[in-house]
Amino acid sequence: MSYNNLLTENKNGTLIITINRPDKLNALNKETIAEISTALKRAESDKSVKVIILTGSGQKAFVAGADISEFANFSVEQGKELSANGHKILFDLTEQLSKPVIAAVNGFALGGGLELAMSCHIRVASDNAKMGLPEVSLGVIPGYGGTQRLSNLVGKGKAFEMIMTADMITAADALQWGLVNYVTSQDALMAKCEEIADKIKLRSSSAIASAIRSVNASTTDGVNGYQVEIEEFGKCFGTPDFKEGTSAFLEKRKPNFQ
Ligand code: COA
Repeated sequence: MSYNNLLTENKNGTLIITINRPDKLNALNKETIAEISTALKRAESDKSVKVIILTGSGQKAFVAGADISEFANFSVEQGKELSANGHKILFDLTEQLSKPVIAAVNGFALGGGLELAMSCHIRVASDNAKMGLPEVSLGVIPGYGGTQRLSNLVGKGKAFEMIMTADMITAADALQWGLVNYVTSQDALMAKCEEIADKIKLRSSSAIASAIRSVNASTTDGVNGYQVEIEEFGKCFGTPDFKEGTSAFLEKRKPNFQ
């Protein structure tokens, strides 16, 4: 399937989704949000895809935010709907996908761009990347999960500072604050993400899906994460991967997960 604003490539089970609006610094307009959502849902049901890497086209931006031109004249009701729909069709979907999603942050990740990176399970940034939630400089707040996910990742104090000052931080600061897992040179970014993906691909997909549900439960309101872990742990015992993984260990060989 082809998209107007995305490029996709399946590299041995790693689906690379590139957001491709370089002249608008890959800003998320409505169509792009819908296309990423479709691409992720298709990846979820495509057995040939094991891991997804999300990145931006060009050297300058991952995503420079939601497309400001689309909501500049919105009413209160439309603003609320914009946020609710975005949560549902893209940001929660990404976080809750049963397959790992790695953000390759190759430049500016601002507003909705940083929110998208934060919805991914793992983030790797290139050393030119700048990250921030500049919404209060536009008279609005982050509305795609940024107030929640940033606090969870870096703590409330740093989250308040980033949101209140609207400042961008460097990749080095993001690494130190725990906002990204690794920083690489621009040239090495995709190779690092693919290296992580290749390692994940050797593991049990069904156990990884259980791990995603369990870790996400730690930050889901009204849900007891420990109980979710108990349920997911138990479910693993009924999977072919568990039989294969434990047999392989006892037979002193490498597992061959299907
Ligand atoms: N929404 C819509 N268009 C955007 C955009 C966004 N979030 N971010 C960048 N663009 C567009 C610019 O309007 C410009 O389009 P044009 O050439 O048709 O005028 C193009 O992308 C290039 O951006 P430009 O501002 O010229 O690049 P720059 O290198 O001077 O500055 C940024 C880069 C990222 C600092 C600047 O684009 C910026 O501040 N963007 C908005 C960031 C933001 O507030 N995001 C949160 C939105 S809620």
